[in-house]
Amino acid sequence: MKFPFKTIVNSEDETRLIAEKFAEKIKSGDIIALSGNLGTGKTFFVKSIAQCFDISNVTSPTFAIVNTYNGKLKINHFDFYRIKKIEELYDIGFEEYLFNNSSITIIEWAEMFEEILPENIFRIEILHLENSKREIRISKK
Ligand SMILES: Nc1ncnc2c1ncn2[C@@H]1O[C@H](COP(=O)(O)OP(=O)(O)O)[C@@H](O)[C@H]1O
Ligand SMILES: [Mg+2]
Repeated sequence: MKFPFKTIVNSEDETRLIAEKFAEKIKSGDIIALSGNLGTGKTFFVKSIAQCFDISNVTSPTFAIVNTYNGKLKINHFDFYRIKKIEELYDIGFEEYLFNNSSITIIEWAEMFEEILPENIFRIEILHLENSKREIRISKK
């Protein structure tokens, strides 16, 4: 997989294959910002990445804000959707999660608090086209 990357998938299985190819490119310390409307498959994509590292307990962190998982490596899984003020992120120690090199951080609805994100991160956008059809774009600055 080379960046920028763009493709159209027609099923969950095809999305999973893209996530697996992407997972080969990431390492601890990386930050991944995921955007796309509700129900496009952001959490599904995180689940698929996590499976590549023997993590099978991924759930949506919408209410918890962050879930952490341990497998072949550690993943911090954020969802900014319910956050109203950036202070809530500082309160839970967002920066400690972000600026450590021992885990991967993946953020759903990252665009809600763009100002808190470093520049040099992976960006994944998922667009719902129809039924199970999605466009997936991945870039890295
Ligand atoms: N091609 C596809 N890629 C990803 N998810 C898909 C696809 N087709 C259907 N789905 C379904 O869409 C839903 C996406 O839900 P979810 O991942 O929770 O979305 P989000 O986190 O973006 O709100 C899941 O039920 C998933 O099974
Ligand atoms: Mg989600």
